[in-house]
Amino acid sequence: MQAQQESIIDLEEKYQVATYKKFPFVIERGEDVWVYTTVGEKYLDLYGGHAVVATGHSHPRVVKAIAEQAGRLIFYSNLVYNDTRARAAKKLVEVAPDAFTKVFFVNSGTEANENAIKMARKLTGKLNVISFEGSFHGRTPGSLAATGLPKYREGIRPMLEGHVYAPFGEAEAVEKLLDNDTAAILLEPIQSMGGVRMGEPEFYQRLRELCDQAGAMLIYDEVQTGMGRTGEYFFAGRFGVQPDMITTAKALASGIPMGALLMGEAMASHLKSGDLGTTFGGGPIACAALEATLAVIEEEKLLDNVCKNSAYLCSELRKLEFVEEVRGLGYLIGIKFKSGSAKPFQQGLLEQKIITGVADDVNILRLLPPLTLKRAEIDRFLVALSAIAL
Ligand SMILES: Cc1ncc(COP(=O)(O)O)c(C=O)c1O
Repeated sequence: MQAQQESIIDLEEKYQVATYKKFPFVIERGEDVWVYTTVGEKYLDLYGGHAVVATGHSHPRVVKAIAEQAGRLIFYSNLVYNDTRARAAKKLVEVAPDAFTKVFFVNSGTEANENAIKMARKLTGKLNVISFEGSFHGRTPGSLAATGLPKYREGIRPMLEGHVYAPFGEAEAVEKLLDNDTAAILLEPIQSMGGVRMGEPEFYQRLRELCDQAGAMLIYDEVQTGMGRTGEYFFAGRFGVQPDMITTAKALASGIPMGALLMGEAMASHLKSGDLGTTFGGGPIACAALEATLAVIEEEKLLDNVCKNSAYLCSELRKLEFVEEVRGLGYLIGIKFKSGSAKPFQQGLLEQKIITGVADDVNILRLLPPLTLKRAEIDRFLVALSAIAL
């Protein structure tokens, strides 16, 4: 089995472009919050395949929906109506805040953001997009230009024009950057890669006011905060603030690639045939997975699960004397340690068969588990974490 694992690792190393630093094991199977390696080891997945597997790995209901759909119709484009797409669109709109009545389906987070930026520019007739230092919005040109972590933009020329960055959480700095040519303010309501940073309620409220005054659009990148991760379906609506557009992806279809751009009736009415498009967006398999994902979140009361167990996890973490700070909401959690770098903790947890994430801020350990994570597994994590610090 060990030899089989090594040969799989060798093959990937040989044939895949080496753009990822990978964990040294091969995952061949997953079930709920657990993943299993080719050598028979079992890992607790508190990283969720990077905030993707909302309903846990290979949830039977999601698997069944995908299999049934694949047996019936794998694909047809947006040029025809489709029963699964119709139901999925209705369900997603139903769980979104009331103001969001229309969806445009895409395939990834970056594609959702590209389309949001494009729409803001087209509908306002303006150029500039204000985003935030520490943000991550994706790797294609528009989303990359909006990304406020400079290392992702380094050495790539030309960068798209019209992008400026404000310090996160500082509305006065945004006000200084705002001008007559501002099309949009784009933000992750909780910066994930930037170190799980959330603003004060007044920050979001002031951004809304500034957009209204300037005739600019407020765009929430909910690629990570969407689909229940914060304990509500979306961050939009919190503190009484509704953006003009929500972009989302990752957890949307429990692991089948899918993204979405949500907007209100007024904005949608300005769009006409041909303004937005994508071949695979809204494909039947992704839509079947989305429909099943939403059904599981609802029927298994996963939002309640996230709220209840996140409160427990955060309060237990705050009792640990080696923990300096616990950040985030729901199952998007950042842990800062008094000793500094989070790396030794990530490594120590990995040795105890628990997968966690780090962030661009090297002092933050990130937890992005499936929404199904329960108290017993949280206790297992807390014991493992304490064992490292001792
Ligand atoms: C907040 C946020 N926006 C956008 C993206 C880009 O999403 P994708 O990798 O699906 O293009 C990511 C990916 O990590 C993200 O975390």
